Amino acid sequence: WQKLAPKKASDPPVVFHWLPVVGSAIWYGNDPINFFQSCQEKYGNVFTFILLGRKVTVALSAKGNNFILGGKSTAFNAEGAYTHLTTPIFGKDVVYDVPNEVFMQQKKFVKFGLSPENFRAYVGMVEDEVEEYLNKDPGFRTYQQNDINEWGSFDALAAMAEITILTASRTLQGKEVRENLDKSFSELYADLDGGFTPLNFLFANLPLPSYRKRDRAQKKMSDFYVDIITKRKQNPDGDHQHDIIASLQDQTYRSGESLRDHEIAHIMIALLMAGQHTSSATLAWTTLHLASRPDIADALYNEQVAHFGNPDGSLRPMSYEDLRHLPILDSCVRETLRVHPPIHSIMRQVREDVVVPTTLAAPSKDGVYIVPKDTYVLASPLISQIDPRVWKDGDKWEPLRWNDVDGVAAQALKSYTDENGEKIDYGFGAVSKGTDSPYQPFGAGKHRCIGEQFAYLQVGTIIATLIRRMELKLTTPTLILLPKDPKTVHYRRRKFD
Ligand code: HEM
Repeated sequence: WQKLAPKKASDPPVVFHWLPVVGSAIWYGNDPINFFQSCQEKYGNVFTFILLGRKVTVALSAKGNNFILGGKSTAFNAEGAYTHLTTPIFGKDVVYDVPNEVFMQQKKFVKFGLSPENFRAYVGMVEDEVEEYLNKDPGFRTYQQNDINEWGSFDALAAMAEITILTASRTLQGKEVRENLDKSFSELYADLDGGFTPLNFLFANLPLPSYRKRDRAQKKMSDFYVDIITKRKQNPDGDHQHDIIASLQDQTYRSGESLRDHEIAHIMIALLMAGQHTSSATLAWTTLHLASRPDIADALYNEQVAHFGNPDGSLRPMSYEDLRHLPILDSCVRETLRVHPPIHSIMRQVREDVVVPTTLAAPSKDGVYIVPKDTYVLASPLISQIDPRVWKDGDKWEPLRWNDVDGVAAQALKSYTDENGEKIDYGFGAVSKGTDSPYQPFGAGKHRCIGEQFAYLQVGTIIATLIRRMELKLTTPTLILLPKDPKTVHYRRRKFD
């Protein structure tokens, strides 16, 4: 780790800590909400903490998000914050291992594949995968017995992790990945995923078994995708037109060059990693909340019946167009992403000294704060997304706050008064757009997520498919919002045709 520079008068306040190198890593790692909110109370919106030998300056609130995510990319750099963690996992020549201008082209290539045409094909595939999972997985035996009076149970986190990888591979990743899921692929995925730990954050390479496992898995996974690409080139008439590999094979850089096979392979690994924990956590939290709120689960089921009900009582399959007109379903996902954004911290490396605006943090007696070069900054949409100044009952999961219930936008965010008494207006529905929004589960600015529409499609279709087929409940009556909360959901099969 870097030797920390001595404190200067212009430095933001430093969070008190006992252990020199570890700093506040344990508090931050175990309970980021409590850590950020306690520090905000004590130091204000801008403060620095020590994270495993690094100086990290946090900027909270919508203005803090704007300061970091809307800042110049020459000052706040993503590659410098992430590459030592991600390059050994994704592989060379993609994402943060290339100049940003090249990655931006790669992002555009992927976006090209995330098209409405492909999305239309995906909805049915996702529905089929969930149905097949419920009908086959040993964890859903009670469901398979087809008894509408019998309650069964499942572990929300484990089931959603499986459903996520099954549906992502069937759609984005392609047939060959889906076919190999039961075999070697899942193991390689697990070994690669094991490369995302605090130790990996600290050291890119160490002579330890977990690092060797990660590197071996990266090589094998990369070879696996390159092999798929080679075989597809030999047999160009195969039926792969809707997956992202096929789409990437058609793209060319501005230089006129096509993507090389290993670049396609490594982009596919990056997409797999980007979408797995994020979507599966969103699914697990939504399921848990629905199980604890029968009123919302009923509203969701009734929305399905109203929209898809046939005269004989059966429900017709969903289409991509339908999904975009289901406000309760949309609100449930939107609300989960507000209260439980899967990415709670977004980091950048600081490449030049940056002055903190006085509207974000009032100057100290020594003048304005300056975030020094060669340190890190961190934005946390998690905190602005539950900020009580912005959101009524901000820490409660209340999906209907997003809906215009009975012609009145119940508790929806339209405007708020910030800490300086300034009134900020947000048009209804426009809340997730700019870098200064308090609602940013998909980030903002140059590095904003390109997977948002796919995530809504995937999570929405899965939740709807489950709610059509089963009632849900928790045995503990209320759900307290902590990461180690109950994971077991009880379900009872509905009569479903
Ligand atoms: C970037 C969240 C799903 C691909 C991001 C960022 C966030 C985010 C917060 C910004 C990171 C930063 O600024 O450092 C989420 C959430 C998801 C989700 C909450 C699901 C609920 C996906 C999926 C894909 C994907 C399914 C791929 C299909 C990406 C990519 C970036 C990104 C390529 C760009 C990174 C960059 O430009 O540096 N995502 N994501 N994400 N995400 Fe997602």
